[in-house]
Amino acid sequence: MALSLKLCRVSSSYLLQVGRSTAALTNSRNKAWWADVEQGPPDVILGVSEAFKKDTDPNKINLGVGAYRDDNGKPYVLPSVRRAEEIIMEKNTDHEYAPIGGFAEFCTEAANLALGDDNEYVKNGLNATVQCISGTGSLRIGAAFLAKYFPGTKLIHLPKPSWGNHTPIFKHAGLEVGSYTYYDKSNCGFDFQGTMDDIKKMPEKSIILLHACAHNPTGVDPKVEQWKEMSKLIKEKNIFPFFDMAYQGFASSDCNTDAFAVRHFLKDGHQLLLAQSFAKNMGLYGERAGAMTLVCDSKEEAARTMSQIKIIIRPMYSSPPIHGAHIVKTVLGSPELKQQW
Ligand SMILES: Cc1ncc(COP(=O)(O)O)c(C=O)c1O
Repeated sequence: MALSLKLCRVSSSYLLQVGRSTAALTNSRNKAWWADVEQGPPDVILGVSEAFKKDTDPNKINLGVGAYRDDNGKPYVLPSVRRAEEIIMEKNTDHEYAPIGGFAEFCTEAANLALGDDNEYVKNGLNATVQCISGTGSLRIGAAFLAKYFPGTKLIHLPKPSWGNHTPIFKHAGLEVGSYTYYDKSNCGFDFQGTMDDIKKMPEKSIILLHACAHNPTGVDPKVEQWKEMSKLIKEKNIFPFFDMAYQGFASSDCNTDAFAVRHFLKDGHQLLLAQSFAKNMGLYGERAGAMTLVCDSKEEAARTMSQIKIIIRPMYSSPPIHGAHIVKTVLGSPELKQQW
């Protein structure tokens, strides 16, 4: 009783003091806390979606975000994804937390899809793969890892142009952002010579971002022979490749063909980082299912880097969302559903 009375007295005098200083603050500055926060511009792509929702024109068409639509312009869910959801429901799946790095089965399926069935990296445990918050989250975690541990110049070169969110993602993680020639406006094609010339000028031990396939926003990719030359030069210059593969399957309609660059760079002996997204190729936009893979030199290195990647993830969002990952592992883990997909 005595103790609670004392506490009561302490807290009421504390409250009095706080009340007095808050009043003083408001009076002296006469300003709300966020009075100096300026209105920011809407996101160029997602802002279009918001404007689209508000528009009452019956003939409106949203050309902002690229997402599957049916003949009536309504969101389309792939039949393989629908079936996977039924299987998940039938299994009475729970809502427990995923581990920090996501579901192991999801990570293995994602890595195999990118690196090839039965690939030596996954088979020998050379991949540090974590389930991330879609492609954006995978890029952001990869960038955070590079910002902390990349042993060279913390400078990443982006193709000109690149996806609009790349620069903010890498800057937010603390990397310096540069660029290299990519698109040739004169013929709406890939400027191979310009790209090679700019790679030659990049400082050794810096980082290059490569769109693995279906380059956004141009849709223009290097040809097989050009990828080979680029891989050779990037290796000679000791530059670290960071692949963004947000559209596997979209360029050629074949996931293996679209993974050529990633697999060829590995064959050439590059260690690399890879960000994958299932937003587009499974139509899982809002589910935020993606994966980040760091290909390592040894199983021991993969375990060490993985421990640090988890340390990066934990204070950011603790662990990834589970529903999209359940769908991906159900589709990729079933030969019939994978074939249908
Ligand atoms: C090139 C590229 N990378 C990554 C992403 C990330 O997408 P999400 O975070 O939706 O998976 C996108 C999305 O448009 C993209 O175009």
